[in-house]
Amino acid sequence: MPINPVLPRNTLDANTSQQDDNSITSAPSLPKFPDGFCWGLATASYQIEGSANVEGKGKSIWDTYSHTPGKMKNNDTGDVAIDHYRRYKEDIQIMKEMGATGYRFSIAWSRIFPNGTGVANPKGLDFYNRLVDELLKAGIQPFATLYHWDLPQALQDKGGWQARETSQYFAEYAGYMAEQLSDRVKHFFTLNEFQNFVDMGHRGIEMVVQGKPVQIELAPGLKLDNQALNQVAHHAVLAHGLSVQAIRAMGKKDTKVGPAEVMFCGVPVMDTPEHVKAAETATRHLNARFLDVMLTGKYSDSYLKEAGKDAPKFTEDELQAIASPIDFVGINVYIPKMYVMASENESGYSEVPMSISHPKMSSPWHTFSPEVLYWAPRLTHSIWNPKAIYITENGCAANDELSTDGNIYDTDRVMYLRNAMGQLQRATAEGVPVKGNFVWSAFDNLEWTGGFGTRFGLVHVDFETQKRTPKLSAKWFKEAAQHNAVV
Ligand code: NOJ
Repeated sequence: MPINPVLPRNTLDANTSQQDDNSITSAPSLPKFPDGFCWGLATASYQIEGSANVEGKGKSIWDTYSHTPGKMKNNDTGDVAIDHYRRYKEDIQIMKEMGATGYRFSIAWSRIFPNGTGVANPKGLDFYNRLVDELLKAGIQPFATLYHWDLPQALQDKGGWQARETSQYFAEYAGYMAEQLSDRVKHFFTLNEFQNFVDMGHRGIEMVVQGKPVQIELAPGLKLDNQALNQVAHHAVLAHGLSVQAIRAMGKKDTKVGPAEVMFCGVPVMDTPEHVKAAETATRHLNARFLDVMLTGKYSDSYLKEAGKDAPKFTEDELQAIASPIDFVGINVYIPKMYVMASENESGYSEVPMSISHPKMSSPWHTFSPEVLYWAPRLTHSIWNPKAIYITENGCAANDELSTDGNIYDTDRVMYLRNAMGQLQRATAEGVPVKGNFVWSAFDNLEWTGGFGTRFGLVHVDFETQKRTPKLSAKWFKEAAQHNAVV
């Protein structure tokens, strides 16, 4: 589908008058999102729920990993987190007050099936029933993620994502959740950030930001070789495909489903046809193991060539299942994977190294490149043309401090959101079918191995008292949602 380029928008709307002295007497028009755009907030079970060992919940790999000495900053764990399991009503009220129209939460698989499979635990299910009912009562649409990295430990003990059976068990759990919730939950995301949980959880990664190496590891903290890692990736996309089929079979007819992938975006150094084409080629290749195979039903020749003898073992039937038709693509967008320029080399593109002084936000990995919020959906649209796109995550951490008047003035986060959402608005104005955006995160929470010190929330949480305080960015979000525009 072609994208309609738009003329630069007027900076003054019809009601704005410019006096002879050039002073502007009323506000300029705001960059609007399409009608019905979803103003969402996002969280994930292990990062917020706490109550790690109650009402029949089984252990997950994060319970194990966070209690392994040396893995977590300050030995933080999700045992209590922000106690959302018990405070969900208060939290939903806060999100309602913020004007959120959608909430993306995740379901802890081991609350439902303590061993990953077998007999369901009704008390675990009850929690999500109550949560969904409360959200609907507050006028907030629930969007459920089925896997946000907390694999039941019992399945890890049987080989985790290295075992093909895990994909099958995931599909059974997904079908069960659709059966239980799809009378009220109309959107399901299958797995969150395939690319990150596969690579960071099963090998660990290193990147260089502002000239410094940054290492990131996630549970279960394995160090697999290339073949085993590619096989894990294959089982993850297979789990996605089989779960799409299970959700279709078990859910209500109008249930919508898609992945929530961390899209690896090659951002063109400039918006000229040759560099955009190079960025498309790069982006397709960067997502070969995940989005590309999910959306095309093929592992690309360039990926199979690069992987060589370490390519995953797969069958044609599996590829077909992996590419089961979906209703939307969810993409988490924080950073470009690389800047790209056209090249005469075999691949047609080359990576432009990021300057050592490229600005960043406070997380060690977070380079500040708001234009990726334009390019990621635009390239997703031009490469794979899905029916609809959601930005399932976007946001930043900040060193938030309570000021003496009791407020948190997170001007850096507001700056980030304004710029990022401005770029996203540009994509929607050009016709890219982005249906909504979920800011990560509604509340400060456990930032995985980074612990509680890395605050991503629009709402501050005092982890001692569990007091919630909306930050300046929460007020920004409310205004933006109300105006359906970048304010
Ligand atoms: C992506 C993950 O899905 C989420 O769990 C994490 O906290 C954010 N990125 C920020 O790092």
